Amino acid sequence: MRVTIFGTGYVGLVQAAVLADVGYDVVCVDVDPTKVERLKRGEVPIYEPGLERLVQENYAAKRLHFTTDAKHGVDHGDVQFIAVGTPPDEDGSADLKYVLAVADTIAEHMEEHRVVIVKSTVPVGTSDKVRAQLEKRLKTRERKDLTFDVASNPEFLKEGSAVADCTKPDRIIIGVASPETEQVLRELYAPFNRNHEKIIAMDIRSAELTKYAANCMLATKISFMNEIANLADILGADIERVRHGIGSDPRIGYQFIYPGVGYGGSCFPKDVQALIRTADEIKFDATVLKSVEKRNNEQKRFLVDKVMKHFNGDISGKTFAVWGLAFKPNTDDMREAPARVVMEALWKAGAKVRAFDPKAMEECHRIYGDRDDLVLCEEQDDTLEGADALIVITEWKNFQAPDYRDLKAKLKEPVIFDGRNIYDPKVVQRYGMTVYGVGRRSAA
Ligand code: UDX
Repeated sequence: MRVTIFGTGYVGLVQAAVLADVGYDVVCVDVDPTKVERLKRGEVPIYEPGLERLVQENYAAKRLHFTTDAKHGVDHGDVQFIAVGTPPDEDGSADLKYVLAVADTIAEHMEEHRVVIVKSTVPVGTSDKVRAQLEKRLKTRERKDLTFDVASNPEFLKEGSAVADCTKPDRIIIGVASPETEQVLRELYAPFNRNHEKIIAMDIRSAELTKYAANCMLATKISFMNEIANLADILGADIERVRHGIGSDPRIGYQFIYPGVGYGGSCFPKDVQALIRTADEIKFDATVLKSVEKRNNEQKRFLVDKVMKHFNGDISGKTFAVWGLAFKPNTDDMREAPARVVMEALWKAGAKVRAFDPKAMEECHRIYGDRDDLVLCEEQDDTLEGADALIVITEWKNFQAPDYRDLKAKLKEPVIFDGRNIYDPKVVQRYGMTVYGVGRRSAA
């Protein structure tokens, strides 16, 4: 079986590399010639552990190819993945123009049966639209003799562990309309389905909704915990004790109940919003999802509110050391990152920022450019020079055990605002410092 993947973004590129690595002959098609040239040189545009090596090795082994030539791509693959972006349009619903353009391209060039697999995260009903687009184009070509199948195969990879997630998936969701299509996808994923059954086959609409339900459930867990943490703060309880207490119930579990400064990234914010819009379109009031989104937007301001309170409402002229810019550790991604909301609020209030992140410095510079109120420091410690206080936004490993004596000596005020509860208040206090965590009795 030969594979073609349209779109060399996060999902497309990781999937392509992992499929090539088990032996498939994979062609990746992208409309961006610069990106294609860079990939051919082995340059991976995103930071993702293990990905660059996988791309380079499989490209060298001639199992992985990159091209802008869509016709070549359509000729090549028995299966054709659509893995292009679905950016939110103005009202928050997923914009399908790239997905449908690929469907159109496939129908424009195909000369024999093709299985079209929708991998992009798309609203329920999109696979039907892909089917209609293919039919329309084949009709204008007067090639109604050509047959195709459409399948939905959502992706569940996490940034920072994308290669591992894709190589050893928890589950492989396949949405199909016929046993024949199911068979094609079963064959395709057989190398990843060894030891125990991971394939869960269902109808197309259920597969499409499964993707949103998974991300929205996780986002709900986080917003719920953030709400309880905010309550704990005011009630004088410690959310870390509460978290431990409830996580021990296997029905709740320990995962994804870490309070903090809100969720970011390319998936949760976008997917929660898109499902709210889908519900709106069918006049269904998604009250839970709307609250999840609202809580998250407010949560991103949590640290700023603490900072303002500590400095009696005036931080103009102050300088803050900021540790962590990426939306989570082990990535350089700053999409919807809480750090952006925090920094922008600090700037608005007249403060300056000295920031450090192990991977996202270039990305931060790309977003904000050169400005007087932002210094991007090469070393973590450099951020402390002349800083009034420290704000920690992402829980990178390197931030977990700082030299508190040094912090105390360098900061003008011995205060840490800890957006991820990585510091034990008792330990910090022993060094004569104060830490404001999330839901850790620091409301006063
Ligand atoms: C997520 C899903 O986990 C993945 O299955 C899906 O395919 C894409 O979306 P990702 O966006 O890469 O993956 O990151 P994830 O590790 O899930 O974290 C998302 C955000 O939630 C981060 O900002 C993280 O800091 C935050 N988070 C996570 C919390 O605030 N608390 C938690 O307990 C867990």
